[in-house]
Amino acid sequence: MEQGSVDQNETKPQRLIEPGQGRLELLIGWGDPAGQRAAMEAGFTREGVRRMPDEELQVWSRLPGDPAEPAPRLLPDLPGSELSDGVVSLRPLDEGDVAFYTELHSLPEVVATSVPPVPPSAEEVRRRCLRSPANWLAGTRADLVILDTATGERAGEIDLYYQEPPTQQAMIGYSMLPAYRGRGFATRAAQLVALWAFAETDIARLIAGAAPENIGSQRVLEKAGFRREAFLRSRLPGPGGTRIDDVQYVLLAGDLLAQASSGG
Ligand SMILES: CC(C)(COP(=O)(O)OP(=O)(O)OC[C@H]1O[C@@H](n2cnc3c(N)ncnc32)[C@H](O)[C@@H]1OP(=O)(O)O)[C@@H](O)C(=O)NCCC(=O)NCCS
Repeated sequence: MEQGSVDQNETKPQRLIEPGQGRLELLIGWGDPAGQRAAMEAGFTREGVRRMPDEELQVWSRLPGDPAEPAPRLLPDLPGSELSDGVVSLRPLDEGDVAFYTELHSLPEVVATSVPPVPPSAEEVRRRCLRSPANWLAGTRADLVILDTATGERAGEIDLYYQEPPTQQAMIGYSMLPAYRGRGFATRAAQLVALWAFAETDIARLIAGAAPENIGSQRVLEKAGFRREAFLRSRLPGPGGTRIDDVQYVLLAGDLLAQASSGG
């Protein structure tokens, strides 16, 4: 992240409040993943976001009857902090990625496939990058930068959204910088994320969607082993109040095993 661009409110040390009735409450800044890890270790549960006129803080609480052990993570840390197949490497997005994220999300074709299809403001980019570790720890999403392993350069982004823990379904989305397209990077990244999700989390269904005319993205999904399963009419918001159809793909752990055993 650029020097000096961290909002003081985001990195404020956590505050402990005891409002009574045996309830312990921690308010933790978004830029304080260490504080969040400590709260989780101490058996606190994340319950939401405290909105105030000049700041937003994560609210964590602990009740007397809560288990002493930390709650299991829906999205654990990556083994060795990254995933790699020797050609691409994936590592968590963080506050140092603001310039890269701005470049990627300024591209018209990336904006067109975003929800909603508008470029994020500078403030929104900063928040997404800064809050990425907190979202991962909270188990809501895992945002990953795709690196060219040979050079270490940032090539693209792939995100896993754990939107439906009760049904064990998550979704992926990805974008590449133009200079890195056509080299199989998006396919490799999707395969790495899928392998990790099925091996390290309780995700049972991994879905992804693409606009009907986005042949490149559909090809990526097919090459990564996903199967087309639905055509969702007017699924997503389009530009200027329009709606966009969505071709839905799904991957199951068993599909990957079948692929591996058939040598695919
Ligand atoms: C779609 C996108 C992620 C593909 O990334 P990529 O790294 O170039 O994809 P890969 O190199 O892994 O390509 C996988 C397959 O798709 C094909 N493909 C990729 N882009 C294509 C396109 N625009 N048209 C047709 N086929 C395409 C490749 O040829 C390859 O198939 P092949 O091995 O049979 O030749 C990239 O073009 C992009 O970032 N687009 C803008 C954002 C976007 O659409 N994101 C997806 C939102 S659903």
